[in-house]
Amino acid sequence: MASANGSVEIEDLLELHELGLLETEDEIADRRSTNFEWDPIELAVQRRTSRGGYRTDSASAVSPVMVPRFADRPATALPPPGTLCNVSLADVLEQRRSVRSYAKRSMSLEELSALLYHSARVVRCAGGARFGTRVLRPFPTAGACSELETYVLSVDISGLQAGAFYYDAFRHRLLRIREWDDHMERILRSVHTAAGNKLNRDPAVVLLITAIFERLMRKYRDLSLSLIYKDVGSFFQTLYLVATALNLAPCAIGSGDEAENSRWLGLDPLCESQVGCFVCGPRGHKTSELRQFNTRERGRDKLQS
Ligand SMILES: Cc1cc2nc3c(=O)[nH]c(=O)nc-3n(C[C@H](O)[C@H](O)[C@H](O)COP(=O)(O)O)c2cc1C
Repeated sequence: MASANGSVEIEDLLELHELGLLETEDEIADRRSTNFEWDPIELAVQRRTSRGGYRTDSASAVSPVMVPRFADRPATALPPPGTLCNVSLADVLEQRRSVRSYAKRSMSLEELSALLYHSARVVRCAGGARFGTRVLRPFPTAGACSELETYVLSVDISGLQAGAFYYDAFRHRLLRIREWDDHMERILRSVHTAAGNKLNRDPAVVLLITAIFERLMRKYRDLSLSLIYKDVGSFFQTLYLVATALNLAPCAIGSGDEAENSRWLGLDPLCESQVGCFVCGPRGHKTSELRQFNTRERGRDKLQS
């Protein structure tokens, strides 16, 4: 931003002011005080969530073409997923919690298959010359750009080797990326720490969610990062609901070494990097031990009281 002779251009200062990163003395005097300090980088991102998104030309507004990934890696077919129809949406919404206690058994490959199928697979592609390929998933995504990818760290899944796999969301199968190693142990330790050391054992599976930034940034430019984080939120909620319906124990994890983990997966973090982490395992208690209720009855009781 500073020129070669060290001076700062007035236009740059005006832009920083517009982003809220610089304030005049009058504005500081008028401003109501907050009980915390904004990190300037976070403030800039926050300002951009409402300001950006312009498109330079129609070519950049077209969603990118999807090409098969990791096609040369050994593939593991996933068993047919079970259905979710024996549980009502109202009950799932009521019962959804972050659960940090797992049963003393492995998660089955069928459970993993159902979790991925109902929350992460590609449901269908819609294409057209005008907007390019739009990839539709069980969760909504900005512009249907399908920038999110799922990597499955198998810790204790019966019938699946321990290690890292790429989830091929088009063909509902796993492609082997890495063996179990020291870095995977480090990821597990960081998950325990992030969960306040409240997990009673290792989660059976750790999902690392990455974003392929170009898929969104070509189209939405400086609005993209905030859109990616919103997409991760809708993916998290879908994972939570499906895991609850499957009687699994789900928990989002808000931290992690995104660049290191992404390099470990063989990715260039400037192109594709971790934007989310989610852990899951078999639930420590059966659904029948959870509070059973008829949501409609409960709602009526509440209204009457
Ligand atoms: C974006 C996000 C990040 C989270 N990060 C963590 C985390 O790092 N560790 C943890 O134990 N729980 C984490 N959680 C779970 C929250 O603590 C939990 O959702 C919250 O306490 C409400 O409880 P509930 O999910 O049971 O309704 C996270 C949840 C979300 C949505």
